Amino acid sequence: MVDLSKFQAGGRETCFHGRHIGAQIYAGLDGRNWRLQDYVARGGYGALKKILAKDGVAGNPGMTPEQVIAEVKLSALRGRGGAGFPTGLKWSFMPRMFPGAKYLVCNSDEGEPGTCKDRDILAYNPHIVIEGMAIAAYAMGIRVGYNYIHGEIFEVYERFEQALDEARAAGLLGEDILGSGFGFQLHAFHGFGAYICGEETALLESLEGKKGQPRFKPPFPASFGLYGKPTTINNTETFAAVPWIINHGGQAFLECGKPNNGGTKIFSVVGDVQRPGNYEVPLGTPFAELLELAGGVRGGALKAVIPGGSSAPVLPARIMMDLTMDYDAIAKAGSMLGSGAVIVMNDTRCMVKSLLRLSYFYQHESCGQCTPCREGTGWLWRMVDRIEHGRGRPEDLALLDSVADNIKGRTICALGDAAAMPVQAMLKHFRDEFVHHIEHQRCPVGALAHA
Ligand SMILES: Cc1cc2nc3c(=O)[nH]c(=O)nc-3n(C[C@H](O)[C@H](O)[C@H](O)COP(=O)(O)O)c2cc1C
Ligand code: SF4
Repeated sequence: MVDLSKFQAGGRETCFHGRHIGAQIYAGLDGRNWRLQDYVARGGYGALKKILAKDGVAGNPGMTPEQVIAEVKLSALRGRGGAGFPTGLKWSFMPRMFPGAKYLVCNSDEGEPGTCKDRDILAYNPHIVIEGMAIAAYAMGIRVGYNYIHGEIFEVYERFEQALDEARAAGLLGEDILGSGFGFQLHAFHGFGAYICGEETALLESLEGKKGQPRFKPPFPASFGLYGKPTTINNTETFAAVPWIINHGGQAFLECGKPNNGGTKIFSVVGDVQRPGNYEVPLGTPFAELLELAGGVRGGALKAVIPGGSSAPVLPARIMMDLTMDYDAIAKAGSMLGSGAVIVMNDTRCMVKSLLRLSYFYQHESCGQCTPCREGTGWLWRMVDRIEHGRGRPEDLALLDSVADNIKGRTICALGDAAAMPVQAMLKHFRDEFVHHIEHQRCPVGALAHA
């Protein structure tokens, strides 16, 4: 018997916090009301019924696939998986008239350190993802979909299976959804727990039963995806945003956020904060407000923040405190919003040690296909390791920078960039700490923090 009580609000192991501003995905959730009847009571599946003209509203002609895509484009919804690619545009790449099989895939792999939002969406509100995927399938003329769920969260996989059973039994999935003539079969797939399986083409390989290694691109999944067929992949949170857009209109979603940054976003605020957890706030919310929502910094003053998951370049406190949490503002400041994991570090944290932890992760997770990533991530880790342990050489900083440069843009997938960017950002903003480690063979941070 699987124990899901830990996903109930207030439970010790959950990331969920009932503190949100203008919530669209997390509104009204308490950990127990995830079932179909609860979701329907909150208005769930109303968007699917609306587009299929099955909502009982007299004179509703439904929406054409083109109208659905136009609404998503208008909303300025950007992919929540990391790259922030415009979702409506991605959907328009799918060849709608393609004669053979086409696939829709949800990326619930969520392996980026710090990120824990997708598993909570699936545990607390699984039907919102099912509804979002069904709408996306309708818009792109797709009849089969998969949700690839991270291999280490079995309870969430089981819950999603239960939600699928409920949706099928209610005629919300299957051959002829609600008698509309539109059919969509959706399946859950339990993944393999490797970070690289979150990269979209590695995920497709893994879904096909092969080793999860990224493919060369082009061709992109829109033309050559699962089993070589046109495929659209989106993140869990991206799909979860779709029902709200259809119910309230793309313009309303856009106005929730900022121009080019529509809607709310779930931030996994982790690290040195009083109440680590997932917070759903409008894009464009000041970082200071998000930090306050999470109870403020714990154990010291704010030193630095990694604003978008472990692969995003670190930013010092003075920059972060003036930033708003949206794709464009964070990019302009030299980092990225990425997967939305906000890793908060107080002034007792050593940046060399922090980088050592990150570098270890990336060399461990490299799939080994390309030389710059396979060898370079190992070099980065070993160099940071010797600096941290008092064996650093004066020339190491230039070498670190040069190795990172030789990885960036020279690999099959973006894991190489993800390994290199944190190194260069740490050197840019916290060079003094690295120099101190090399010159004095010890860490300055404790002394500075308590001076
Ligand atoms: C190494 C690596 C790991 C990734 N992991 C994930 C992940 O866990 N979840 C995710 O949605 N996207 C992940 N991505 C991004 C996906 O490749 C893809 O861009 C995303 O799923 C597209 O969905 P979106 O357009 O809705 O953001 C990863 C990318 C890389 C390079
Ligand atoms: S960049 Fe790294 S993880 Fe990506 S394909 Fe190359 S070796 Fe594999």
